[in-house]
Amino acid sequence: MQNHLNKDIQNQLSCFGYSVRDDFFSPGELDPLLCDFKSCQEQDRFRAAKVSDGERHQKIRGDYIHWWDESRLSLSQNTIQTKLKQFLLGLNKRFFFNIDHINLHYAFYPKGSFYKTHLDQPIGKDERVVTFILYLNPHWKPGDGGELKLYLDESLQEYEIIEPVYGRTVFFLSHQFYHEVLLAHKERLSLTGWFRRKSAGVLPGVK
Ligand code: OGA
Ligand code: NI
Repeated sequence: MQNHLNKDIQNQLSCFGYSVRDDFFSPGELDPLLCDFKSCQEQDRFRAAKVSDGERHQKIRGDYIHWWDESRLSLSQNTIQTKLKQFLLGLNKRFFFNIDHINLHYAFYPKGSFYKTHLDQPIGKDERVVTFILYLNPHWKPGDGGELKLYLDESLQEYEIIEPVYGRTVFFLSHQFYHEVLLAHKERLSLTGWFRRKSAGVLPGVK
């Protein structure tokens, strides 16, 4: 069943470069994860995410993040990580990606925050192969904001708007898609991860 689903997602990645699904995780996996998210918040584990627009000194993101510690995963985190690792094996087998680890962090967007248009793979770097996002907003409804705007072409003319509803997962090729998180009118919870390979170094010709 999961194998079939993983293949479906691989096919979508291969055809379109991205995949949006609502059936990757079950409620039995999601509900304990949401509890875990909240307990990390109660333990004050979140810190302001640090990326600012170097030249203009403008804030490009307003979220707070908590990186998972692979040596100390909670039970619910471990369940999610195990499933993603299984998915990773399939990706490597099919696409020869050579991915060797996954970095994951929870993200909390307070009301009024956003993440402006960006690429997840900094120019000249190739460690991040696939971006993964899981939304954890049980009561999200239209008007709450915080949608993911995924640009389908480099001129940013075509895009898809993805609502951050509970249990929805997004996978996309990190180097291929500019994207942004639209203004959140309510608190917005998610788990974000990157399937990474060891760097082949800075690509030739890129300074
Ligand atoms: C990111 C990101 C999108 C989202 O963390 O790099 O773009 O929908 N997140 O949370
Ligand atoms: Ni991003």
